[in-house]
Amino acid sequence: MKIGIISDIHSNYEAINSVLKNMKEADKFLCLGDIVGYGADPNCCIEKIIDLNCKCIGGNHDFTVAGKLDINYFNYTARVAIFWTSLQLKKENLNFLVNLEKKIELEENVIAVHGSPQNPLLEYILDKDTASLIFSKFNFKICFVGHSHLAGCFSFNENNNQIDYINLSNGGSIEIIKNKRYIINCGSVGQPRDGNPQASYGIYDLKYNAVNIYRVSYPVNLTQDKIINAGLPRSLADRLSYGR
Ligand SMILES: [Fe+2]
Repeated sequence: MKIGIISDIHSNYEAINSVLKNMKEADKFLCLGDIVGYGADPNCCIEKIIDLNCKCIGGNHDFTVAGKLDINYFNYTARVAIFWTSLQLKKENLNFLVNLEKKIELEENVIAVHGSPQNPLLEYILDKDTASLIFSKFNFKICFVGHSHLAGCFSFNENNNQIDYINLSNGGSIEIIKNKRYIINCGSVGQPRDGNPQASYGIYDLKYNAVNIYRVSYPVNLTQDKIINAGLPRSLADRLSYGR
């Protein structure tokens, strides 16, 4: 069994299209939220996820467009995109966002949240101190997260209480072993911020107990033209060139 893991698509149709074409090996999918926001193709991206018929949780952008999170948590540029998105959505697609959960259990001791288990919509797990707190407060073997748009993995060694971090911005493989616990971010499909502009995704291979992170190119210029033509802030198009 292989589970394809996607997160932070952010209305980038070209990126999700390229990612799904490269995920033929996946038997099923898990989406970690922020399907919309920033980009110019919110309806197409939601419809892609609906077609996958997969487990999906909501992100802070999805919840805000759905009217379930205060827009004042966001900076000006994000607010402009959220407002624009809310005007574009078809009723059935908005309804899909409204019904998203904040947290799911994929299997026993494997959970998925957008931000973190203690604050699913808003908390970023960016450093070992935060990861340490999460490992101590919550009982999981693997916690899949998105939100930071940074592909990487925190691991906790139960033998010596050591926490390590592996940067996966160029892809890589994490072996799931006994006596270790993991917080894994498979990166962002549609707006990477780890310095690699390629779309990021993961494959959780249950047979071989590994999570593999991959990066894939997509036609960035096309996505940027759509953002500019939609009248969205220019910076949202520019940053896609740099993966920042
Ligand atoms: Fe996001």
